[in-house]
Amino acid sequence: MLEIRRLNQYYGGSHILRSVDLTVPSGELTVLLGRNGVGKTTLLKCLMGVVPVQCGDICWQGQNLQNLAPHKRVAAGLGYVPQGREIFPRLTVEENLLIGAASRRSPRSIPNHIYALFPVLRDMRGRRGGDLSGGQQQQLAIGRALMSEPALLILDEPTEGIQPSIISDIGRTLRRLVREYGMTVLLVEQFYDFAEGLADHYAVLERGAVVAQGAGSAMASDGVRQMIAI
Ligand SMILES: Nc1ncnc2c1ncn2[C@@H]1O[C@H](COP(=O)(O)OP(=O)(O)OP(=O)(O)O)[C@@H](O)[C@H]1O
Ligand SMILES: [Mg+2]
Repeated sequence: MLEIRRLNQYYGGSHILRSVDLTVPSGELTVLLGRNGVGKTTLLKCLMGVVPVQCGDICWQGQNLQNLAPHKRVAAGLGYVPQGREIFPRLTVEENLLIGAASRRSPRSIPNHIYALFPVLRDMRGRRGGDLSGGQQQQLAIGRALMSEPALLILDEPTEGIQPSIISDIGRTLRRLVREYGMTVLLVEQFYDFAEGLADHYAVLERGAVVAQGAGSAMASDGVRQMIAI
């Protein structure tokens, strides 16, 4: 499991993450919800080691991650799907996927299960990433993260700006990754219905601190929808 303890982060003089405590149990899906600007992306960037932390612990399967470079965290089993997808628009779909395997020695081809999860990527494997629709690009970003064979998949608002039919596909895929592949998922979301439909556990971030958490099945009775309503 992933354990975050008393994590504090600053951008210059702005205290963004305030003693964040969060546990992400193995083999389950945890949703982190919160309004715009509360620090969700910053927390994920701290997990991946792409922004520095002021103090606190990040422990993954008993290993302290703090001093590991981002690529070593990927090698340790973390996969990251960034907000806004950040695919490479001028590279082909296949090239985008192969970049996701850069931390591994062997694969120079795309494993079948990636195309089985996202058939559209097989159909479009020779097309440029930038020619795909937003939803297809999101699927590509997830496929790219899966290329490193992560044990923990971290996604930052994968439904943002995506058409409803592809949102449903992504939800089904995330459920399969947990149930069939035994993956651990940490999903940052603002789309309440999507989050509630998937969550084994939830946590709510407000002004850089976790203010509520519990079982996914308790989200409605705990009033989580109101907590993130604008
Ligand atoms: N590189 C940066 N330098 C300075 N401040 C930043 C930087 N990135 C983010 N911030 C600020 O940190 C705070 C948290 O931002 P963050 O992107 O983590 O929020 P978020 O919860 O992911 O928001 P959203 O839902 O809009 O994606 C915001 O006030 C934001 O303006
Ligand atoms: Mg964000």
